Amino acid sequence: MENSIHVADKLHWVGVRHPDLKVFDDLFPTHNGTTYNSYLIQGSKMTVLIDAVKEPFSEELFRKIEEQVPLNKIDAVVVSHTEPDHSGAIVHLLDKNPDMIVYCSKAGENFLKQLLNRDFKSHIVTEGEELDLGGRTLRFVLAPYLHWPDTIFSYLVEDEILFPCDAFGAHYCSDRLFDDEISEFYADFHFYFDCIMRPFKDKVRDALAKIKDLPIRMVCPSHGPVRRSTGDFAIESYARWSVAPPEGGKPKALLAVLSSHGNTREMADVIKAELETQGLDVIGFALSDMRDDDYRNALEQADVLVIGTPTIQRDAPPHVWHALAMISSVTPKTKVAAVFGSFGWSGEAVKMVEQRLAGLKYKLAAEGVSFRFTPTAENLESCRKFAEQIAATVLTEE
Ligand code: FEO
Repeated sequence: MENSIHVADKLHWVGVRHPDLKVFDDLFPTHNGTTYNSYLIQGSKMTVLIDAVKEPFSEELFRKIEEQVPLNKIDAVVVSHTEPDHSGAIVHLLDKNPDMIVYCSKAGENFLKQLLNRDFKSHIVTEGEELDLGGRTLRFVLAPYLHWPDTIFSYLVEDEILFPCDAFGAHYCSDRLFDDEISEFYADFHFYFDCIMRPFKDKVRDALAKIKDLPIRMVCPSHGPVRRSTGDFAIESYARWSVAPPEGGKPKALLAVLSSHGNTREMADVIKAELETQGLDVIGFALSDMRDDDYRNALEQADVLVIGTPTIQRDAPPHVWHALAMISSVTPKTKVAAVFGSFGWSGEAVKMVEQRLAGLKYKLAAEGVSFRFTPTAENLESCRKFAEQIAATVLTEE
């Protein structure tokens, strides 16, 4: 049976390994399992637990903690965010230690009340607030949306150790804890960012700015290896992956089209030509054979998303819904869009896609255009005006 692991003086990893996990949160494949990292810090005045573990692993967490201290000697638990893979065991920990104080953000306290459905003592931390553990200091950094609204980082000042919640983590499980004991986990590290942090690139930039002047000797994330050799690399990787879209140059339109019989494509050709005439660069995608990665990158560069969709069986085709579903997996540069398309029998798709975009908080750059079967010269002139209106909206917002 595995024991707690010494990380630094009076600082132990008391987390658990979950090597058999195949899909995290029923959403993301985990190619090498995962760990739920929990850290026990002992000062001369206080003993603090940084995060707990997923509920089914509670007893293993408790056993590892008890190698260091009795459960009722934990003074506080820092809830870096309230997602159940880290907060699940807290309900049982509170049963054993009801006086333990939960340190968390305001949003974290609200979430935790509804996750635990029980009373608990709490302390809401503020930006830069410090907790004197006795001989060592824990400082809190608010990092909302990395990757939950309630996220906080903790920084052990004298030890120069950062506990950044899920940031800089990886779903990776081996029988070792430290990065320099493991040959390679870059692919899992990058995939983790892509799945978990990519929708919040702007928030990642905000958080990196807050920690940029901190001396950081070790990074202790809530999943995967502890980085005692490559903490800088992890932080630099996040800076590179979350860089803001370049400024200047022509505004860009992402023109994503599905055309079953060529009619929506004919409309798209006129729209593309007019957008270019108006001074926009057009990045074109055929939704039937695009690479998801290329489309997601384009979403993060484009000033406007223009979707062309036919109506098939009174609906937009699955490829179109897939393109819409990917929006929430990235940080779009803007939330401006327009929709057009041809139809044969009915023609619901354009309105349905517009409604979906509205649900995603997009603003329409122009009212959608939709025509039956082969577009006439008059229809194509409407498409040109539609593109002219899109360009005017984009250029106004530049
Ligand atoms: Fe690892 Fe966001 O929970």
